[in-house]
Amino acid sequence: MIDYRLFKEQMEALTGTQSRPVPNLANASALIWQTMSDLNWAGFYTMEEDALYLGPFQGKTACIRIPLGRGVCGTAAQQDRVLRVHDVHEFEGHIACDSASNSEIVLPIHDGEKVVAVLDIDSPLVGRFSAEDEEGLKEIVKVLEKNCIWD
Ligand code: SME
Repeated sequence: MIDYRLFKEQMEALTGTQSRPVPNLANASALIWQTMSDLNWAGFYTMEEDALYLGPFQGKTACIRIPLGRGVCGTAAQQDRVLRVHDVHEFEGHIACDSASNSEIVLPIHDGEKVVAVLDIDSPLVGRFSAEDEEGLKEIVKVLEKNCIWD
């Protein structure tokens, strides 16, 4: 069981000293990787014009560009909602970067009203991400929204 209060405090300490997205997201992906069990990928895609582009992450190499509306990440970004996918093989259009992935959670990251990035976390376990993880990760995302200047 993850102590999300502590996790949030650690994220605040790691990302609260400067506002450049790349170093903050790099350490954020490492902290997520260290904190959550049973992951095979944890990282970020940032929005550039019409597509998401690969940002800082932990795990195996991944696809570089995801058009809006494609895959779990592109769908979450386009619809501006959290997607918690119990079994990625049942998600129409899922992009399999790592064949080890069986479940996934994607959370949009905002600058004001605008989606500027997504947090994507993958697991080899089916149904790895609970409603509690979703709530806890929403708080983690709020820290990143606050601590980065997204221009
Ligand atoms: N599975 C994602 C693609 C990104 S990788 O998992 C790192 C998707 O369907 O959007």
